[in-house]
Amino acid sequence: MLQDMTDAPKPSPLAAPDPWNLVADDYTMELLPMFELFSKDALALAPTHAGAKVLDVACGPGTLTLLAAEAGRSVSSIDFSPQMVKNLKRRLNGAQQGADVREGDGQALPWGNDEFDAAFSMFGLMFFPDRAKGFSELYRVLKPGGAAVVSSWAPFEGVFVSIMQAMREVLPDIPFGSGKGPLGDPDELTEELRAAGFADVSVKTITHRLPGDTPAEFWAQTQRTTAPVVLLKNRLGEDEWKRVTQGVVGRLESQYGTAPVEIQTTAYLGFGRKS
Ligand SMILES: C[S@@+](CC[C@H](N)C(=O)[O-])C[C@H]1O[C@@H](n2cnc3c(N)ncnc32)[C@H](O)[C@@H]1O
Repeated sequence: MLQDMTDAPKPSPLAAPDPWNLVADDYTMELLPMFELFSKDALALAPTHAGAKVLDVACGPGTLTLLAAEAGRSVSSIDFSPQMVKNLKRRLNGAQQGADVREGDGQALPWGNDEFDAAFSMFGLMFFPDRAKGFSELYRVLKPGGAAVVSSWAPFEGVFVSIMQAMREVLPDIPFGSGKGPLGDPDELTEELRAAGFADVSVKTITHRLPGDTPAEFWAQTQRTTAPVVLLKNRLGEDEWKRVTQGVVGRLESQYGTAPVEIQTTAYLGFGRKS
Protein backbone atom coordinates (compact mmCIF):
# COMPACT_ATOMS: atom_id res chain seq x y z
CA MET A 1 0.00 0.00 0.00
CA LEU A 2 2.65 2.51 0.88
CA GLN A 3 4.02 2.17 -2.65
CA ASP A 4 1.37 4.65 -3.52
CA MET A 5 2.64 7.51 -1.44
CA THR A 6 6.23 7.87 -2.49
CA ASP A 7 7.40 11.18 -3.79
CA ALA A 8 11.01 10.06 -3.95
CA PRO A 9 13.38 12.07 -6.13
CA LYS A 10 12.91 11.39 -9.84
CA PRO A 11 13.11 8.89 -11.38
CA SER A 12 10.86 7.04 -8.95
CA PRO A 13 12.21 3.61 -8.02
CA LEU A 14 8.72 2.32 -8.78
CA ALA A 15 9.08 3.22 -12.47
CA ALA A 16 11.11 0.02 -12.98
CA PRO A 17 9.93 -3.61 -12.73
CA ASP A 18 12.44 -4.74 -10.04
CA PRO A 19 10.61 -3.53 -6.91
CA TRP A 20 7.35 -4.97 -8.23
CA ASN A 21 9.05 -8.31 -8.90
CA LEU A 22 10.23 -8.33 -5.28
CA VAL A 23 6.74 -7.96 -3.83
CA ALA A 24 4.74 -9.80 -6.52
CA ASP A 25 4.27 -13.12 -4.68
CA ASP A 26 3.24 -11.65 -1.32
CA TYR A 27 1.09 -9.00 -3.01
CA THR A 28 -0.73 -11.80 -4.82
CA MET A 29 -1.25 -13.79 -1.62
CA GLU A 30 -2.10 -10.97 0.76
CA LEU A 31 -3.38 -7.80 -0.89
CA LEU A 32 -5.78 -9.12 -3.50
CA PRO A 33 -8.96 -9.03 -1.36
CA MET A 34 -8.66 -5.28 -0.92
CA PHE A 35 -7.56 -4.51 -4.50
CA GLU A 36 -10.38 -6.69 -5.86
CA LEU A 37 -12.97 -4.47 -4.17
CA PHE A 38 -11.73 -1.49 -6.19
CA SER A 39 -11.57 -3.53 -9.42
CA LYS A 40 -15.22 -4.52 -8.92
CA ASP A 41 -16.09 -0.82 -8.47
CA ALA A 42 -14.22 0.03 -11.68
CA LEU A 43 -15.98 -2.69 -13.69
CA ALA A 44 -19.34 -1.39 -12.41
CA LEU A 45 -18.40 2.18 -13.36
CA ALA A 46 -17.71 1.19 -16.98
CA PRO A 47 -20.18 -1.63 -17.65
CA THR A 48 -19.67 -3.74 -20.78
CA HIS A 49 -21.67 -6.46 -22.53
CA ALA A 50 -20.76 -10.15 -22.48
CA GLY A 51 -17.97 -10.79 -24.98
CA ALA A 52 -16.80 -7.15 -24.91
CA LYS A 53 -13.08 -6.50 -25.37
CA VAL A 54 -11.58 -5.24 -22.11
CA LEU A 55 -8.00 -4.06 -21.46
CA ASP A 56 -6.23 -4.16 -18.07
CA VAL A 57 -3.06 -1.99 -18.09
CA ALA A 58 -0.51 -2.54 -15.29
CA CYS A 59 -2.59 -5.57 -14.41
CA GLY A 60 -0.35 -6.89 -11.59
CA PRO A 61 -1.42 -10.42 -10.68
CA GLY A 62 -4.61 -10.01 -12.74
CA THR A 63 -6.83 -8.45 -10.10
CA LEU A 64 -9.28 -6.95 -12.62
CA THR A 65 -8.34 -9.33 -15.46
CA LEU A 66 -9.66 -12.40 -13.65
CA LEU A 67 -12.90 -10.72 -12.54
CA ALA A 68 -13.64 -9.49 -16.08
CA ALA A 69 -12.73 -12.80 -17.72
CA GLU A 70 -14.85 -14.70 -15.22
CA ALA A 71 -17.76 -12.41 -16.20
CA GLY A 72 -17.35 -13.43 -19.84
CA ARG A 73 -15.34 -10.49 -21.18
CA SER A 74 -12.53 -10.99 -23.69
CA VAL A 75 -9.61 -9.60 -21.69
CA SER A 76 -6.15 -8.40 -22.71
CA SER A 77 -3.65 -7.49 -20.01
CA ILE A 78 -0.18 -6.04 -19.73
CA ASP A 79 2.36 -5.48 -16.93
CA PHE A 80 6.10 -4.80 -17.06
CA SER A 81 6.91 -7.02 -14.04
CA PRO A 82 7.67 -10.60 -15.16
CA GLN A 83 6.88 -11.89 -11.66
CA MET A 84 3.46 -10.20 -11.62
CA VAL A 85 2.70 -11.67 -15.07
CA LYS A 86 3.81 -15.09 -13.86
CA ASN A 87 1.42 -14.84 -10.90
CA LEU A 88 -1.42 -13.78 -13.18
CA LYS A 89 -0.86 -16.73 -15.51
CA ARG A 90 -0.71 -19.11 -12.55
CA ARG A 91 -4.07 -17.81 -11.27
CA LEU A 92 -5.92 -18.22 -14.59
CA ASN A 93 -8.34 -21.11 -14.74
CA GLY A 94 -11.43 -22.20 -16.65
CA ALA A 95 -13.11 -19.34 -18.49
CA GLN A 96 -10.17 -17.05 -17.75
CA GLN A 97 -7.69 -19.13 -19.77
CA GLY A 98 -8.46 -17.20 -22.95
CA ALA A 99 -7.02 -13.94 -21.57
CA ASP A 100 -4.32 -12.38 -23.75
CA VAL A 101 -1.59 -11.62 -21.18
CA ARG A 102 1.56 -9.73 -22.18
CA GLU A 103 4.70 -8.50 -20.49
CA GLY A 104 5.43 -4.91 -21.50
CA ASP A 105 5.25 -1.20 -20.84
CA GLY A 106 1.86 0.44 -20.33
CA GLN A 107 3.25 3.59 -21.97
CA ALA A 108 3.62 1.78 -25.33
CA LEU A 109 0.73 -0.62 -25.74
CA PRO A 110 1.18 -3.45 -28.26
CA TRP A 111 -2.40 -3.21 -29.57
CA GLY A 112 -3.87 -1.33 -32.51
CA ASN A 113 -6.14 1.71 -32.55
CA ASP A 114 -9.85 1.42 -31.69
CA GLU A 115 -9.72 -2.18 -30.40
CA PHE A 116 -11.29 -2.14 -26.92
CA ASP A 117 -14.75 -1.47 -25.49
CA ALA A 118 -13.30 -0.56 -22.09
CA ALA A 119 -9.80 -0.01 -20.69
CA PHE A 120 -8.69 0.08 -17.06
CA SER A 121 -5.54 0.90 -15.16
CA MET A 122 -5.98 0.21 -11.46
CA PHE A 123 -3.23 1.78 -9.29
CA GLY A 124 -0.75 1.31 -12.16
CA LEU A 125 -0.75 4.23 -14.60
CA MET A 126 -0.36 6.53 -11.59
CA PHE A 127 3.28 5.30 -11.36
CA PHE A 128 4.22 5.83 -15.01
CA PRO A 129 7.03 8.36 -15.49
CA ASP A 130 5.12 9.67 -18.54
CA ARG A 131 1.50 9.61 -17.37
CA ALA A 132 0.34 11.64 -20.39
CA LYS A 133 1.60 8.81 -22.60
CA GLY A 134 -0.20 6.28 -20.41
CA PHE A 135 -3.50 8.18 -20.79
CA SER A 136 -3.07 8.77 -24.53
CA GLU A 137 -2.29 5.09 -25.12
CA LEU A 138 -5.51 4.11 -23.30
CA TYR A 139 -7.39 6.59 -25.49
CA ARG A 140 -5.77 5.33 -28.70
CA VAL A 141 -6.68 1.67 -28.22
CA LEU A 142 -10.31 2.34 -27.21
CA LYS A 143 -13.10 2.16 -29.76
CA PRO A 144 -15.02 5.43 -30.18
CA GLY A 145 -17.58 5.43 -27.36
CA GLY A 146 -15.36 3.13 -25.25
CA ALA A 147 -14.77 3.95 -21.58
CA ALA A 148 -11.61 4.17 -19.47
CA VAL A 149 -11.24 3.96 -15.70
CA VAL A 150 -7.96 4.95 -14.03
CA SER A 151 -7.53 4.75 -10.27
CA SER A 152 -5.20 6.31 -7.72
CA TRP A 153 -5.03 6.60 -3.93
CA ALA A 154 -6.43 9.36 -1.82
CA PRO A 155 -4.15 10.51 1.02
CA PHE A 156 -3.71 7.69 3.52
CA GLU A 157 -5.83 7.22 6.59
CA GLY A 158 -5.65 5.45 9.93
CA VAL A 159 -2.99 2.84 10.40
CA PHE A 160 -1.23 3.71 7.11
CA VAL A 161 -0.62 7.25 8.35
CA SER A 162 0.59 5.86 11.68
CA ILE A 163 3.07 3.59 9.89
CA MET A 164 4.48 6.54 7.95
CA GLN A 165 4.77 8.60 11.14
CA ALA A 166 6.37 5.72 13.00
CA MET A 167 8.87 5.13 10.17
CA ARG A 168 9.75 8.81 10.07
CA GLU A 169 10.41 8.82 13.81
CA VAL A 170 12.88 5.97 13.40
CA LEU A 171 14.26 7.08 10.04
CA PRO A 172 13.96 10.88 9.81
CA ASP A 173 15.39 10.91 6.26
CA ILE A 174 12.91 8.42 4.90
CA PRO A 175 12.35 9.06 1.17
CA PHE A 176 8.56 8.76 1.31
CA GLY A 177 6.27 11.71 1.28
CA SER A 178 3.04 12.14 3.16
CA GLY A 179 -0.26 13.51 1.98
CA LYS A 180 -0.91 13.47 -1.74
CA GLY A 181 0.60 10.70 -3.85
CA PRO A 182 0.88 10.57 -7.66
CA LEU A 183 -2.48 11.42 -9.28
CA GLY A 184 -3.78 11.65 -5.72
CA ASP A 185 -6.15 14.52 -6.33
CA PRO A 186 -9.48 14.41 -8.23
CA ASP A 187 -8.68 17.64 -10.12
CA GLU A 188 -5.35 16.23 -11.34
CA LEU A 189 -7.08 13.03 -12.49
CA THR A 190 -9.80 15.04 -14.25
CA GLU A 191 -7.30 17.32 -16.01
CA GLU A 192 -5.10 14.46 -17.23
CA LEU A 193 -8.09 12.49 -18.56
CA ARG A 194 -9.35 15.60 -20.40
CA ALA A 195 -5.87 16.41 -21.74
CA ALA A 196 -5.76 12.96 -23.35
CA GLY A 197 -9.03 13.73 -25.17
CA PHE A 198 -11.53 11.94 -22.92
CA ALA A 199 -15.09 13.30 -22.66
CA ASP A 200 -17.74 12.81 -19.94
CA VAL A 201 -14.93 12.88 -17.37
CA SER A 202 -15.84 12.28 -13.72
CA VAL A 203 -14.05 11.10 -10.59
CA LYS A 204 -15.65 8.91 -7.96
CA THR A 205 -14.24 8.71 -4.43
CA ILE A 206 -14.66 5.27 -2.88
CA THR A 207 -13.72 4.01 0.58
CA HIS A 208 -13.45 0.38 1.63
CA ARG A 209 -12.92 -0.99 5.09
CA LEU A 210 -11.54 -4.43 5.81
CA PRO A 211 -10.80 -6.27 9.03
CA GLY A 212 -7.06 -6.01 9.57
CA ASP A 213 -4.35 -7.69 11.62
CA THR A 214 -2.57 -6.76 14.81
CA PRO A 215 -0.14 -3.84 14.44
CA ALA A 216 2.83 -6.26 14.54
CA GLU A 217 1.37 -8.44 11.76
CA PHE A 218 0.32 -5.39 9.77
CA TRP A 219 3.91 -4.13 9.83
CA ALA A 220 5.17 -7.61 8.87
CA GLN A 221 2.78 -7.62 5.91
CA THR A 222 3.87 -4.13 4.87
CA GLN A 223 7.45 -5.38 4.70
CA ARG A 224 6.41 -8.23 2.41
CA THR A 225 4.03 -6.42 0.09
CA THR A 226 5.06 -2.78 -0.18
CA ALA A 227 7.67 -2.10 -2.84
CA PRO A 228 9.44 1.00 -1.41
CA VAL A 229 9.54 -0.52 2.08
CA VAL A 230 11.10 -3.71 0.67
CA LEU A 231 13.68 -1.60 -1.18
CA LEU A 232 14.48 0.33 2.00
CA LYS A 233 14.77 -2.89 4.03
CA ASN A 234 17.23 -4.33 1.51
CA ARG A 235 19.26 -1.12 1.53
CA LEU A 236 19.49 -0.78 5.34
CA GLY A 237 20.50 -4.34 6.15
CA GLU A 238 19.32 -6.71 8.85
CA ASP A 239 20.56 -5.01 12.05
CA GLU A 240 19.33 -1.55 11.15
CA TRP A 241 16.02 -3.04 10.03
CA LYS A 242 15.54 -4.74 13.41
CA ARG A 243 15.84 -1.30 15.02
CA VAL A 244 13.28 0.12 12.57
CA THR A 245 10.87 -2.75 13.25
CA GLN A 246 11.11 -2.34 17.02
CA GLY A 247 10.48 1.40 16.73
CA VAL A 248 7.56 1.07 14.32
CA VAL A 249 5.79 -1.77 16.15
CA GLY A 250 6.34 -0.04 19.52
CA ARG A 251 4.84 3.18 18.20
CA LEU A 252 1.87 1.38 16.59
CA GLU A 253 1.14 -0.69 19.70
CA SER A 254 1.25 2.39 21.91
CA GLN A 255 -1.38 3.93 19.66
CA TYR A 256 -3.59 0.92 18.87
CA GLY A 257 -2.73 -1.74 21.45
CA THR A 258 -2.16 -5.32 20.30
CA ALA A 259 -5.65 -6.17 19.01
CA PRO A 260 -6.44 -6.28 15.25
CA VAL A 261 -6.91 -2.89 13.61
CA GLU A 262 -9.46 -2.15 10.87
CA ILE A 263 -7.98 -1.04 7.54
CA GLN A 264 -9.59 1.84 5.69
CA THR A 265 -8.53 2.85 2.18
CA THR A 266 -9.92 5.49 -0.13
CA ALA A 267 -9.33 5.60 -3.87
CA TYR A 268 -10.22 7.95 -6.72
CA LEU A 269 -11.68 6.26 -9.80
CA GLY A 270 -11.40 8.53 -12.83
CA PHE A 271 -13.81 7.82 -15.69
CA GLY A 272 -13.64 9.10 -19.28
CA ARG A 273 -15.18 8.20 -22.63
CA LYS A 274 -13.55 8.31 -26.06
CA SER A 275 -15.75 10.47 -28.26
C1 LIG B 1 -0.09 -1.49 -7.16
S1 LIG B 1 0.11 -2.64 -8.48
C2 LIG B 1 -1.56 -2.75 -9.12
C3 LIG B 1 -1.83 -4.04 -9.82
C4 LIG B 1 -3.27 -4.29 -10.25
N1 LIG B 1 -3.69 -3.36 -11.27
C5 LIG B 1 -4.20 -4.25 -9.07
O1 LIG B 1 -5.13 -3.44 -9.04
O2 LIG B 1 -4.03 -5.08 -8.15
C6 LIG B 1 0.92 -1.67 -9.73
C7 LIG B 1 1.31 -2.47 -10.95
O3 LIG B 1 1.73 -1.55 -11.97
C8 LIG B 1 2.76 -2.19 -12.71
N2 LIG B 1 3.44 -1.15 -13.50
C9 LIG B 1 4.01 -0.01 -13.01
N3 LIG B 1 4.55 0.70 -14.03
C10 LIG B 1 4.28 0.01 -15.18
C11 LIG B 1 4.55 0.26 -16.55
N4 LIG B 1 5.22 1.35 -16.97
N5 LIG B 1 4.11 -0.64 -17.47
C12 LIG B 1 3.45 -1.75 -17.08
N6 LIG B 1 3.17 -2.04 -15.78
C13 LIG B 1 3.57 -1.16 -14.84
C14 LIG B 1 3.59 -2.88 -11.64
O4 LIG B 1 4.43 -3.89 -12.16
C15 LIG B 1 2.49 -3.43 -10.72
O5 LIG B 1 2.11 -4.73 -11.11
